[in-house]
Amino acid sequence: MRLTAITIFPDYFSPLSLSLIGKAEEAGLISTKVVNLRDFATGVHRSVDDTPYGGGAGMVMRADVWGDAIDSVAASSEANVIDLVILTPSGKRFTQRDAMSLSQAEEIVFACGRYEGIDARVGKFYDRQDRFRVHQLSIGDYVLNGGEVAALVVMEAVIRLIPGVLGNPDSLAEESHNDEGFLEYPVYTKPPTWRGVVVPEVLLSGNHSEITRWRRENSQIVSSEGS
Ligand code: 6GU
Repeated sequence: MRLTAITIFPDYFSPLSLSLIGKAEEAGLISTKVVNLRDFATGVHRSVDDTPYGGGAGMVMRADVWGDAIDSVAASSEANVIDLVILTPSGKRFTQRDAMSLSQAEEIVFACGRYEGIDARVGKFYDRQDRFRVHQLSIGDYVLNGGEVAALVVMEAVIRLIPGVLGNPDSLAEESHNDEGFLEYPVYTKPPTWRGVVVPEVLLSGNHSEITRWRRENSQIVSSEGS
């Protein structure tokens, strides 16, 4: 899988070289690329935004600049289908199910908007192209300054689902273990007593059916649908 972020703040994506994602890239399981939107701006001021039609506060990111940037990424891609993820607070809430679906993608392009957002024609145009699947996604009900942090969230959720990326595939199996959601129970490790707080006796018992029952009873269901 290739993942490309298009942004006016490429530095936001330096965490991609860290941790599991960095290892996944070193292992050749994924490749990541960051494209500076500004490289596609023309004119003396190299501006990527302009005032909104209809008036109002703030600036809107220009469709022509975004179109040239996305076309350039597409031209460098061998993928038959490109999943274009447009990060916007007005998008559909991103869920574990979306992460599972995107983990099958050949190429994902993350369009990170700033200011009041990207000219709406960009999403419309690429939605009409057979080679593209457009997803307008939000990561939750709050407003960020731009799509960069949201793109990192989606990337991490997707990348960890790619076979071979997680050190311990059992953790994935446990998560995806039923369709309603996955179970998250309280966890403990040594020592058995810490500052007077003890580990539940049953977990030290070695009785696996009792442990399974205790975990089920003490689980929060985290829905695959999001909440
Ligand atoms: Cl995807 N973008 C912005 N700017 N804010 C958000 C978001 C995205 N998701 C939640 N808040």
